[in-house]
Amino acid sequence: MAQLWGGRFTKETDREVYRFNASARFDQRLYQQDIEGSIAHAIMLEKQGILSLEEKDAIVKGLTTIRKRLEEGSLVITEEYEDIHSFVESTLTDMIGEAGKKLHTGRSRNDQVALDMKLYVRAEIIEIDELLKTFQEILLRVMEENLETWMPGFTHLQKAQPVTLAHHLGAYFEMLKRDRSRLSDTYERLNTCPLGAGALAGTTYPLDRGYTASMLGFEGPTLNSMDSVSDRDYLIELLSALSTIMMHLSRFSEEVILWNSNEYGFVEIDDAFSTGSSIMPQKKNPDIAELVRGKTGRVYGHLMGMLTTMKALPLAYNKDMQEDKEGTFDAIDTVKDCLKMFMQMIDTMRFRKDVMAKSAMRGFTNATDAADYLVKHGVAFRDAHGIIGQLVLYCIEHDKTIEELSLEELRGISEVFDADIYDAVSLRTCVERRLTTGAPGISAMRGVIAEYRKYLKQ
Ligand code: ARG
Repeated sequence: MAQLWGGRFTKETDREVYRFNASARFDQRLYQQDIEGSIAHAIMLEKQGILSLEEKDAIVKGLTTIRKRLEEGSLVITEEYEDIHSFVESTLTDMIGEAGKKLHTGRSRNDQVALDMKLYVRAEIIEIDELLKTFQEILLRVMEENLETWMPGFTHLQKAQPVTLAHHLGAYFEMLKRDRSRLSDTYERLNTCPLGAGALAGTTYPLDRGYTASMLGFEGPTLNSMDSVSDRDYLIELLSALSTIMMHLSRFSEEVILWNSNEYGFVEIDDAFSTGSSIMPQKKNPDIAELVRGKTGRVYGHLMGMLTTMKALPLAYNKDMQEDKEGTFDAIDTVKDCLKMFMQMIDTMRFRKDVMAKSAMRGFTNATDAADYLVKHGVAFRDAHGIIGQLVLYCIEHDKTIEELSLEELRGISEVFDADIYDAVSLRTCVERRLTTGAPGISAMRGVIAEYRKYLKQ
């Protein structure tokens, strides 16, 4: 058992207690951040005359060697150490002697772990943002190829009005834009440096906190030492942003699962991204989409877990906060994994344009346009709504679509119908006339896509 605090104890920690208390098993993932923060701390201590130049050089060299050896695998973090901070400090002292014992001057594991987590989260936010951007690029490519791929738009999962595949996917592009902006907000708000807050009340050494903060790429030092060591708001914000990403992926998954079903047949998932059944030879299952939908629950769970852990914690640091790590790590891993899998599945998916268009033609997705036709010929909208309602009923009874009716049949319901009704309710017209900003009409979509291209270049 290698721990940093044996002095005031007369007995060894019970083995089981030690295991229960220790966090090296999971916080070893923070080794790079712990070393980076320690290097900055040592450089600042020397600048302030708290460490000699030789001591600082020995520490920086030692820490750099530890990082290199961990990366090569010639050094391993064992559970003999309580946590990553104990491991780094003890290994350093074994390696360079006395100077190693001075690294912790003016620092506590409380501000140290707060720093490590912030550094870790910052890097992960950048990685997740990159993945979201790649996903947007894939979506935009598919959108550009499908400006005229007609499909039914749904409300209440009932066919409503015709849209295009480009338009439908554009909705997800917008969601991903908000996801990225939420992550960027989280990054901005967390970007102050807790190092130098000490255990809770700062320190009597003349630290230059602004200097360490700027070395580590923070906007500046945190301004209240008690808050610095006990703030986990940024993890709650992160987990909330990650939960929202998963919610979006889960909604998309649900649609892919529906679209891939025999009943819809809108898409075919590539063989490489689907799996078979051990008993039913005909099956090709959308497992990736189902897993992404399923894993959403565990990310939500980590958000609830973190909120609950923080609830009612008195100031300042409490060991409860060690529970912030496993859930956060798992949520980050899960989101990255899901994003990678899901976007590749979309990238390789085949869209069955003919099936989508046929589906848009059945189900009266042009009923609103038929009513609009009457309005354009002087009928009040409410009356037009009633007339088209009768028309739809007639079609259902005769198993026909609106455009399959003869002009005679149409006139039987309203005298206002003329030969130009057929063009007015054709799928092409229904989509192409929808030209308000944000609507599926081609020229409206082209404008939006041009904006998305600009956005992706930023
Ligand atoms: N392993 C601890 C954590 O993750 C580090 C801080 C420990 N501080 C303390 N006073 N025991 O929160």
